[in-house]
Amino acid sequence: MENPFALVPYISKEYFCDREEETKTIVEYLRNGSNITLISPRRYGKTGLIYRVFDEIKQQKANVSTCYVDIYATETLEDFIKVFSEAVIASMEKKKAIKSFFQFLGGLRPMLSYDPVSGNPELTLTFRTDHEKKQTLASIFEFIEKQDKKTIVAIDEFQQIRYYGINMEALLRSYIQPLRNVQFIFCGSKKHIMTEMFTDARSPFYESTRCLYLEKIDRAVYAEFIIRMLEKGKKTVTEEALDFILDWTKLHTFYTQSLCNHVFLKSNKKIDKEEVLKSANQILKENEQTFIQWRNLLTSNQWNYLKAVAKEQSVEKPYSTQFIQKYNIGTSANSQRLLEALIDKELILANSTLEGLSYSVYNVFLSRWLENH
Ligand SMILES: Nc1ncnc2c1ncn2[C@@H]1O[C@H](COP(=O)(O)OP(=O)(O)OP(=O)(O)O)[C@@H](O)[C@H]1O
Ligand SMILES: [Mg+2]
Repeated sequence: MENPFALVPYISKEYFCDREEETKTIVEYLRNGSNITLISPRRYGKTGLIYRVFDEIKQQKANVSTCYVDIYATETLEDFIKVFSEAVIASMEKKKAIKSFFQFLGGLRPMLSYDPVSGNPELTLTFRTDHEKKQTLASIFEFIEKQDKKTIVAIDEFQQIRYYGINMEALLRSYIQPLRNVQFIFCGSKKHIMTEMFTDARSPFYESTRCLYLEKIDRAVYAEFIIRMLEKGKKTVTEEALDFILDWTKLHTFYTQSLCNHVFLKSNKKIDKEEVLKSANQILKENEQTFIQWRNLLTSNQWNYLKAVAKEQSVEKPYSTQFIQKYNIGTSANSQRLLEALIDKELILANSTLEGLSYSVYNVFLSRWLENH
């Protein structure tokens, strides 16, 4: 029996926990003609949700094609065109369509190969001028627009376009706005940048989409899911052990899945707290070298600050005398400087709640490890 706790964003609905409401909402908005912005901290399950939505659309046999583009590794317009073209090719079911897309790119002497391991298309394009790049991007959108079916394009890690060194937002906006047969899901984890892009009146994408903030999965729903997945392997879990899993991983999807995956792999038929604890410790041990490498990249003040936040679990008042004195931070100016540096490195997460901001160590496993070191 395979492990029912997937460590990839999406396999199928069966192995995907919840997100029923979110899926329904997104599918409805899309059907309504809206574009969508999807924002959450890292590893909550945005990419998985995109695939879940695409799957749902396919199940409903809507006459729609879907195209998923991950621009995480892109740094330039040229990179963007390459991964976008590859995604378009990957989304095409018919050879004929791929051929016509190639004709579209004709002037750029495209060369296509397929990765022997993943089977993903890999495209090489040769550009002579910047103008040629912009024109190519325009014609890719034009090409998708002209397809028989409507296309939904999901651009993952969208905040990355801010680092291209050109006004990519304005450029994209000008190409996207006139499209009638293409809709978009823009997805990202840098809340500050994403929010600015879509809600600041000065940004090209201002109010052009419906914004969705993905939250953690509901505790009771996750608990029920874990029990159901364990049953597939004829395993059961005590209530105490289940509570421990959900507390220790703070319901942060990736970490909850990882611990469950490990527990499933190592445990006997009846899972108790002791077994979960063993898995948890083993995971921390396996990650220790990475944690130590991070320590080496930080100043000792930054490291101690991170440890303080880990020990507190979550900090609401980082400038309070109480917090500063308890952990020997010095002054509130120090606290601010350290906090900002660690947020910038994505080691601390600023979470907005109704009561205001609260800060926690972004990586839950690192947080648990720091608590004891
Ligand atoms: N609904 C879910 N059910 C089960 N596992 C999930 C679910 N959502 C996410 N996961 C797990 O969490 C991991 C992270 O999810 P995903 O990659 O979708 O997050 P993300 O928000 O896109 O993260 P990032 O911002 O780093 O790209 C997945 O690999 C999967 O193991
Ligand atoms: Mg993702």
